[in-house]
Amino acid sequence: MCGIIGYIGKSEAAPILLEGLRRLEYRGYDSAGLAILNGTLSVRKCKGRIANLTDLIGREPIHGDVGISHTRWATHGGVTDENAHPHFDESGKLALVHNGVIENYQTLKEQLLSEGHHFKSQTDTEVLAHLIGKHFEALGGEASGPRLVEAVRAALKEVTGTYGIAVMHEAVPETLVGARRGSPLVLGIGKGENFLASDVSAIVGHAREAVYLRDYDVVTLGRDDFEITTLDGGVSGFKVSKVEFSEDDVNKGAFPHFMLKEIFEQPESLQNAIRGRLSVEESTAKLGGLNMTPQQLRDIERIVLTGCGTACHAAMVGEYVIETLAHVPTEVEFASEFRYRNMPMNKDTVVFAISQSGETADTLAALRESQRKGHRTLGICNNVASTIARESDGGVYMHAGPEIGVAATKSFTSQVAVLTLLGLLLGRIRHLSTSDGIRIMEEMKAIPEKVREILKQNDRIKEIAHKYAYAKAMMFLGRQFNYPVAMEGALKMKEISYLHAEGHPSAELKHGVIALISPEVPSVFIAPDDSVYDKNISNIEEVKARKGPVIAIGTEGSSKLEKVADDVIYIPRCPDYLSPLLTVIPLQLFAYHLAVKLGCDVDKPRNLAKSVTVE
Ligand code: F6R
Repeated sequence: MCGIIGYIGKSEAAPILLEGLRRLEYRGYDSAGLAILNGTLSVRKCKGRIANLTDLIGREPIHGDVGISHTRWATHGGVTDENAHPHFDESGKLALVHNGVIENYQTLKEQLLSEGHHFKSQTDTEVLAHLIGKHFEALGGEASGPRLVEAVRAALKEVTGTYGIAVMHEAVPETLVGARRGSPLVLGIGKGENFLASDVSAIVGHAREAVYLRDYDVVTLGRDDFEITTLDGGVSGFKVSKVEFSEDDVNKGAFPHFMLKEIFEQPESLQNAIRGRLSVEESTAKLGGLNMTPQQLRDIERIVLTGCGTACHAAMVGEYVIETLAHVPTEVEFASEFRYRNMPMNKDTVVFAISQSGETADTLAALRESQRKGHRTLGICNNVASTIARESDGGVYMHAGPEIGVAATKSFTSQVAVLTLLGLLLGRIRHLSTSDGIRIMEEMKAIPEKVREILKQNDRIKEIAHKYAYAKAMMFLGRQFNYPVAMEGALKMKEISYLHAEGHPSAELKHGVIALISPEVPSVFIAPDDSVYDKNISNIEEVKARKGPVIAIGTEGSSKLEKVADDVIYIPRCPDYLSPLLTVIPLQLFAYHLAVKLGCDVDKPRNLAKSVTVE
């Protein structure tokens, strides 16, 4: 979703802002713009890619060392140049960029119209710019940083909804103001320069330290200093953190796309998810961040896992794994449903909110709803500074490193790995023996190397993907632990290649799906050598009998597949409950290569945003 970057310092702002916007591209956007202060405010904005904005600035250069910029993902008002941010107040001297949604903007707009304000766009953001400008005028006196901050506070108190904002005013050239409620905003601290960004990746390489702002924080930035207060003007307790990522982490390196880079990072990201979390002495997992005593863990009667999209698919794998290893009843619910559903849950139910970004609006709302009902609610997040990480009662970090490709890849395997650790931990304090624990741990430790083995087949998977690029639609089918992997394989395919793809349990074929099978509709079967292997083989035969091409993901040495499927991609042998960590890898590569073959922009698929911070 929308991205913000603001700069105040001694360098030319435009190149820094454009570079930051490029790094935020992955969040998803449809237009971009920036405003720079150099005596007066100048703005450049347009719909389309950041490349369009860069061209515009090339034709009409813009200079100055203070500026704000934005990538917009339309919510209120269509995708037009006028609706792109920054927006201005009535005087034209105050500029604002905004992420989030001002829910009462209609009422505020009517009031402002009745007071003689004129609007150029259909956005809720422009209303906020006018409101701040109105307060700035009304406060009167000398134009100063404190007056601008006061105006921001006064306006935000009238607003309902969510915001992460950056504001500047022609009359106050030494100050940028930022504020947040519900939309992430980071203060980046440099030498003689400071930054505002909705995501730390935008300022990596410039700022060594950062403050992850909290809801209702208001920050004032000068070149050499900053001040963080609350919306009421009180003191805000804040923590300065080191910016942990390097520029390598946020660049593609030798890979053509972030998605491919992140697929190839999975041996390391999986290693990081389990590193230090396996106790040889106790032959179990150690998850100290859960903040729960062994007795509290033993008392858990039921687990609810919630998340959106890929995180929900990881949760579905988690349901199978936790029930298998720990025998704790586990349920999965889309966060968007959970938040409005009144699920009966007894007091010993624990809820896990799973989110790579830690900012997904529905997952955050589900977490808050669960806490409201008094349930212990834990997070499984990648972004350690995120709202979900902060608001949950404890949790487990994924340690996957930045995931920039819009299609989630390494976050899926890290989420599954963390849920498997949870299954092991809960199993060991229930019925699993020491030797069971040791065996599971050894199998988990072997997974990163097995992923590496699968990645070596990249060229072959590419050939197979190209062979099926003619497809009109595609079915993804799997059973048990690999039913969620079928869902995930289909999601990867549709989101980056725009090919119609469906994921189903293999046995559901006969209950309707089989009507879609034809030579133009290949099926991808996830059929490792597990307890339902033969059942999957029968389902493959059913598809073949209807002239449907079949690509199968199987286990090395399981020769039956060769006889029934058109193409087979092999994974190394592993226990059933770990197989999703391996079977998903060929599906990610398959979707990637097919989408590239079709000429799709895999890192920035149409209509999608990396972090969905609005409902
Ligand atoms: C799919 C994808 C999305 C996300 C979903 C949740 O490839 O990326 O489905 O998984 O938007 O995002 P997080 O995990 O950040 O809450």
